[in-house]
Amino acid sequence: MVNVAVLGYGTVGSGVVEVLGRNREQISGKTGEEIQVRYILDLRDFPGDPYEDRVVHDFNLILEDAEISVVCETMGGVGAAYQFTKQALMAGKSVCTSNKELVAMHGTELLALAAEHHCNYLFEASVGGGIPLLRTIQNSLTAERIQAVTGILNGTTNYILTKMEKEHADYGEVLKKAQELGYAERNPEADVEGHDTCRKTAILASLVTGKTVDAAKIETEGITGVTQADFDFASKKGLRIKLLSVIKVEEDGKLLAVVAPFLLTEEHPLAVVEDVFNGVLVTGNMLGDTMFYGRGAGKLPTASAVAADVIDCARNRGRTVMEGWSREEAELVDIKE
Ligand code: HSE
Repeated sequence: MVNVAVLGYGTVGSGVVEVLGRNREQISGKTGEEIQVRYILDLRDFPGDPYEDRVVHDFNLILEDAEISVVCETMGGVGAAYQFTKQALMAGKSVCTSNKELVAMHGTELLALAAEHHCNYLFEASVGGGIPLLRTIQNSLTAERIQAVTGILNGTTNYILTKMEKEHADYGEVLKKAQELGYAERNPEADVEGHDTCRKTAILASLVTGKTVDAAKIETEGITGVTQADFDFASKKGLRIKLLSVIKVEEDGKLLAVVAPFLLTEEHPLAVVEDVFNGVLVTGNMLGDTMFYGRGAGKLPTASAVAADVIDCARNRGRTVMEGWSREEAELVDIKE
């Protein structure tokens, strides 16, 4: 039996509990043992919820329970989530998360802590929602020198841009709908100003280069300046507007990383990625282009990726499987160049 604690019973946390419950048989078959949610940490109570008896309010209960081997951090933010993640890893408990802000800010330290304590810090859900992207880059594209990654990495903004383009929808109303659907961040400014895509870009770039990439140094522009007039112009030229994350590893090892709205021709593989979907084009020096597509936000797709990480941790107890990246900082190309 693998005992799991879920920190934060919001959209993603409740999704993780649901995925582990609904797919219990398939999951235990693949893991070789049962995975059980023993605790759900939240400030609130959830009367009437099927898991209400698992809800606790004190993280120490989880930390001191030697039978908890995996913790899902689905709280978000970089305050308590950071402290709890550190404490869990130091106690040898693996942590799986969808918290891109925390991974982008403290991933280097947390990966090193996991390695030191022979456990795992896994964050597949932090980039591309349900798309199995990070694991593929780390475990499958191992023979490649990755030269570039171009992606639509934010479901909310892609949803807004699609609705503005296709239905001439009002920006504010579409954003509200994205919030209702559980796509947007608690503070949607993180989505529309490009910060969320920037954090995901930092994580991807760190994985690709094997070095720490500081999100604060990535040139970032969101979609708040995109107007209906831009769509009219683009449509006359047969172009699409997409918020892209662009990562290029130059021959000299320097890194170009930028987040901004781009004009794409209709033939570009990412031009067809619409609504909440994300698409990521990875270019390897042997393979050429390979593309990944799937739901980039939303409760169950994101939770599915966290649950897959839980299974990975359960299968690899006592062994660190995520190489991640080193403390050395990647050198970024000056965008003006
Ligand atoms: N707000 C994020 C998005 C959630 O819309 O992509 C998934 O990271």
